[in-house]
Amino acid sequence: MRQISAAGATFNIIDRGAGPAVLLVHGFPLDHTMWHAQLDALSVNNRLIVPDLRGFGRSTVTDGTVTMEQFADDLVALLDALGIQQPVCVCGLSMGGYIALAFWRKYRDRVRSLILCDTRSAADTPEAAAARHTLADKATAEGMEKVAEAMLPKLIHPETPKVRPQVAAAVKQMILGTNPRGAAAALRGMASRPDCADLLPTINVRTLVFAGEKDAISSPDEMRKIAAAIPGATFVEIPEAGHMSPMENPQRVNAELQKFLADELLMR
Ligand code: MLT
Repeated sequence: MRQISAAGATFNIIDRGAGPAVLLVHGFPLDHTMWHAQLDALSVNNRLIVPDLRGFGRSTVTDGTVTMEQFADDLVALLDALGIQQPVCVCGLSMGGYIALAFWRKYRDRVRSLILCDTRSAADTPEAAAARHTLADKATAEGMEKVAEAMLPKLIHPETPKVRPQVAAAVKQMILGTNPRGAAAALRGMASRPDCADLLPTINVRTLVFAGEKDAISSPDEMRKIAAAIPGATFVEIPEAGHMSPMENPQRVNAELQKFLADELLMR
């Protein structure tokens, strides 16, 4: 683990391996440990930069609203602080995917390729945005138990608590370990994120899109449509997984990621 100062904050990050850099961006309300099962497999040929985002894990918490653009600004500041100027592969899960799209909108010359995992391109409906504000208030008033109650069943495959109880426990632990103020700021940021449909046809870097077969937040059908709107993108459905596919079926996810990254090495 390293602590890096950038963008007026301190970020807790893993910086592992050597080769073309890959940024692994976690979802909400999680932290960098959600990528634990990818670290050994992917760091053989790539340099992995795996941060706790602002407000999560052991990184600085900012009150108010943290927008997807702010998260993308933070990631670019982190890359600058690490001296990584070559374009990177940006791989984001769910909120991490919203951030990957914000990164593409603002910093496309820093993007070598994109991996969108269990994520969406649509903005929140007014009802969904209102529910996020209510949850943000609940989190700050009552703590993360409320958020865990609301989110856990949506994050994992219905069978996961039975067949992979350690994964269900790790996801719950991450949620309960998240600072409620950090979670609230990201909830407000997600509620205000713009629709990214217009952005998808502009993506002209290699892109992999995948979703767990039982993803209750970003369904395979929705993600297949995202992939169809991105020129040349590949879509993969991950069996035996819900929204947290990299944790729920790491063998299959790692195989897809390794293939995507290996092809990229061959093209260099
Ligand atoms: C996530 O996993 O990052 C969240 O489910 C995203 C969301 O709530 O839209």
